[in-house]
Amino acid sequence: MDRKEFLKVSAVAALAMPSTAEHLVNRGERWTNLSADDEGFWSFVRAQFPLTRDRVYFNTGGLGASPYAVIDAVKAKMDELEKISETGHTEGLWKEMKTRAGGFFGCDADELAFMRNATEGINVVCNGLPLGEGDEVITTTHEHVANAVPWLALQKRRRIVLKFFEPSTASAQENVARVERLLSTRTRLISVPHVTTTTGQILPIRELADLARARRIWLFVDGAQAAGMLPLNLHELGCDAYAFCGHKWLLGPKETGYLYVRKDMLDIVQAKFVGAYSDHGYDFQKGELAFHPSAQRYEYGTVNIPLRVGLDAALQFLTRIGMANVWKRDQQLSTYLHDRLRSIPKIRVLSPASDTERSAMVTFQHESVPFLELQAHLNSYNLRTRGVSEGGVNGLRISCHIYNSREEIDKLIEGLKSVRG
Ligand SMILES: Cc1ncc(COP(=O)(O)O)c(C=O)c1O
Repeated sequence: MDRKEFLKVSAVAALAMPSTAEHLVNRGERWTNLSADDEGFWSFVRAQFPLTRDRVYFNTGGLGASPYAVIDAVKAKMDELEKISETGHTEGLWKEMKTRAGGFFGCDADELAFMRNATEGINVVCNGLPLGEGDEVITTTHEHVANAVPWLALQKRRRIVLKFFEPSTASAQENVARVERLLSTRTRLISVPHVTTTTGQILPIRELADLARARRIWLFVDGAQAAGMLPLNLHELGCDAYAFCGHKWLLGPKETGYLYVRKDMLDIVQAKFVGAYSDHGYDFQKGELAFHPSAQRYEYGTVNIPLRVGLDAALQFLTRIGMANVWKRDQQLSTYLHDRLRSIPKIRVLSPASDTERSAMVTFQHESVPFLELQAHLNSYNLRTRGVSEGGVNGLRISCHIYNSREEIDKLIEGLKSVRG
């Protein structure tokens, strides 16, 4: 193909495929016209994602798909910055993005630090808390590797003691009671997920915060599976620190996240990895250093600004839909899935039956087909699920988020019904 012909073909292709920016402009005004109770609203939301329709994506708990609004924001910021070769890291932008995030998560802007993922936030807390030999940390048997390995490493290094409880799907009170039974005079911290990675169980964080406060111990929450799935108010939850990523339910760019550290915990969770931006003035030769008064003390060095701007765009995208609507939709889908799964012989649902403890993730097992075989079978139907081996659960996890639909759940059920065994 000569150059002229190539340009002609490219021009036709460009006409046939609107740019992502155009795609949004064309649809932008409809945001205000549709109600979230209308199925059309969710079809419209689905159209905001480049996510292929050739495969059904049920793994938001692993990684969320980003909408065009996020992708465009990252690209635009990168284009802007690469023209001038600047980092784009300004106090004004930081303040603007963290103020918006504080509103979204129910905390102060100063209590938030940008992180690369949930694991980084977990590490800041785990390594920053003054925990030493014999200090006890209560945790669950259902932790994701991200909230297990840092504590194990601390156990090796500082000889802390880890005590475990298995989350009960019976009731929230039973889980509080299980924690209570592990308490001792050496207990310093409770470290739990808000939503477990295994069965998607919502743990009673508010009740655990009350318990922790009464006993003068700290509560750390791994919120990787909760942020962006359900509305959050971190001040109301009452925990001391909360780590989460931007690349699951929040639908932000990959390698983004936030760590929340309650204001009066900032001097207790010591900043261990520090550098430019962590300080509030220093004199190297005089040996003087003041940490940044905010959670920015946990940030350091050059970072990728377009990714953080993309996370900010993700929060704006979800705000446009409304987190109450997101949560309602996710729950409707997971309840529909839960009910349909229970009608299939040989399928055992492992997630809680109670609406207040079941989240947008539902995990199940087949009586006679091992979970990895079942996953491979569903994969051959272009259904992307996630196998869960953590905590010895050995089941398949389905994540239901705003781009999923009842029709997709019906496809999953068909796939399951076609299993031999
Ligand atoms: C409960 C939980 N915590 C932490 C993580 C790790 O998140 P990240 O990869 O952002 O560090 C995951 C990821 O699946 C998770 O499910």
